[in-house]
Amino acid sequence: MPSLPLILAPSILAGDHANLASTAQQVAELGLTWIHLDIMDGHFVPNLSFGPALLAALRRTGSTLFFDTHLMLSEPHRYIEAFAKAGANLISIHIEPTYDHRAALHKIRSLGCQNGLVLNPQTPASAIAPFIADVDLILVMTVQPGFGGQQFRHDVIPKLQQIAAWRQQRGLTFRLEVDGGIDLETASACRAAGADTFVAGTAFFRATDPRAFIKTLTKLP
Ligand code: DX5
Ligand code: ZN
Repeated sequence: MPSLPLILAPSILAGDHANLASTAQQVAELGLTWIHLDIMDGHFVPNLSFGPALLAALRRTGSTLFFDTHLMLSEPHRYIEAFAKAGANLISIHIEPTYDHRAALHKIRSLGCQNGLVLNPQTPASAIAPFIADVDLILVMTVQPGFGGQQFRHDVIPKLQQIAAWRQQRGLTFRLEVDGGIDLETASACRAAGADTFVAGTAFFRATDPRAFIKTLTKLP
């Protein structure tokens, strides 16, 4: 199966929280199409971030970026509709909390969004195996979620390889996204393991030459 075009999704969590509209505009002006929106409830993860109002506000500025919306929530199923209505294009939900995952994944698509399933570093690939034929994206966390700027966890690489192998064996076409501590070096290791979609917060927004960062990452072999 030919590999999907590589996508870099900058994480808005590492942007300018005093002016996120300009952060989104900066991403678009660099020719990127995706932006990663980290939504945190202070319960599933020990941090709070944004709500649906941010997505709606960014849409009102005329942003046409693809909103890759990562729900780090204990009850994500309760917020799917709000984020879809606010302008999300893809909504990814964690497998760890207890709720009807299949119903939630179906609901995301019924609202016109792409769906994604997310695994924390300590969650085995087997946890998402029953759902891989019903998702548009699998997000493999390469840090424990909650904060940007953490160290990449190399122990997650075998899990990436496993999920990529299942995708290949079953002829599936979901995107395989990685998130947390992604820079050019760790992105290269993830690419070699089968990833095609890369979330970068700190490494991207601190890059001295963002255009060079984008070019190198999206051209990884
Ligand atoms: C962590 C978030 C990540 C984070 C990535 O909970 O899901 O998207 O913002 O930030 P960096 O790239 O700085 O690790
Ligand atoms: Zn994220």
